Amino acid sequence: MALILAIETSCDETSAAVVRDGVDVLSNIISSQIDVHKKFGGVVPEVASRKHLELINGVIREALDSAGVDFGWLDAVAVTSGPGLVGALLVGVSAAKAISYARDIPLIAINHLEGHIYANFLANPGLEFPLICLVVSGGHTDLVIMKGHGNYRVVGRTRDDAAGEAFDKVARTLGLGYPGGPLVDRLAAVGNPSAIPLPRAYLEEGSLDFSFSGLKSAVINYLHRARLKGEEVNPADLAAGFQKAVVDVLVDKTLEAVEQFRARTVLLAGGVAANRLLRESMREAAKKRGLRLVYPPGVLCTDNAAMIACAAYYRYLRGDFSDLALNAVPGLELVNGNN
Ligand code: KG4
Ligand code: ZN
Repeated sequence: MALILAIETSCDETSAAVVRDGVDVLSNIISSQIDVHKKFGGVVPEVASRKHLELINGVIREALDSAGVDFGWLDAVAVTSGPGLVGALLVGVSAAKAISYARDIPLIAINHLEGHIYANFLANPGLEFPLICLVVSGGHTDLVIMKGHGNYRVVGRTRDDAAGEAFDKVARTLGLGYPGGPLVDRLAAVGNPSAIPLPRAYLEEGSLDFSFSGLKSAVINYLHRARLKGEEVNPADLAAGFQKAVVDVLVDKTLEAVEQFRARTVLLAGGVAANRLLRESMREAAKKRGLRLVYPPGVLCTDNAAMIACAAYYRYLRGDFSDLALNAVPGLELVNGNN
């Protein structure tokens, strides 16, 4: 049995969780800073670090208390060491190192994207490899092939904006607020996705890379042009058209990866995996092709520490520990067995 405390502070959520054997989530405390950053229209790194510092001890305490667990019972402490905001990451890494040292338990460093992927293993520990994972968050849009636990190969990625970033920017242009993804998702539900034609970037034949900056600019230009001409724009139609353009490309490229690497299972991960159209479209496509599709419940799609604890469990089984020289690495890449 392995009882793991995990800490996640890579961006604007201060989170701590206690998970047993990578499946039993005894607690998953997420203290969101959304209200603090909202007035700036995005995450302000310095403010985020300061907030994490204020919150971290209380969030860890709450995670232990609501799990009914004492520090002395823990088998390991895990933490996101990158990618993310360096000042934000450092708060979690320092806290985890202190706990590891004081309690003399192993320290496990987790790549944030690996955490997002493992949100799927919390409820499905027996997933069969090879898997194709579409990791779509505020900072990343990656297609990853996994041939075993800890075995990752990024086979496609965005060449400019991440999908979540495009959602957030379009939401800001439409005056919807922050974070934009869930707001665009909701507004799009009442719009007509074919009312406004928007471009889809497929890049070269067979390419598994993405590009969303052209689509984002097309939405912004469409709005500006309409305003200059004094024409009314239906924001729901624009949101629906934009969302459909993003989702079409995400689904098509994921299916292309499935074909290229002969996988039978597809995972969705990261904040944008909460998007209802993406889930629905992937579900339909997977059903047609007899693929197994897995995605986490909404709260486990966005940043949380339970997914970090789950990823850490598999590193724990492999004895893959870090020492106290562990540092935050803002640009950490997802590579084989490495963190
Ligand atoms: O994974 P995440 O919580 O943080 C990062 O690691 O970046 O992802 C946050 C991103 C934001 O860009 C947010 O707008 C987007 O996920 N997001 C969504 C939805 N919920 C969150 N995008 C589209 N539809 C949603 N329902
Ligand atoms: Zn994330």
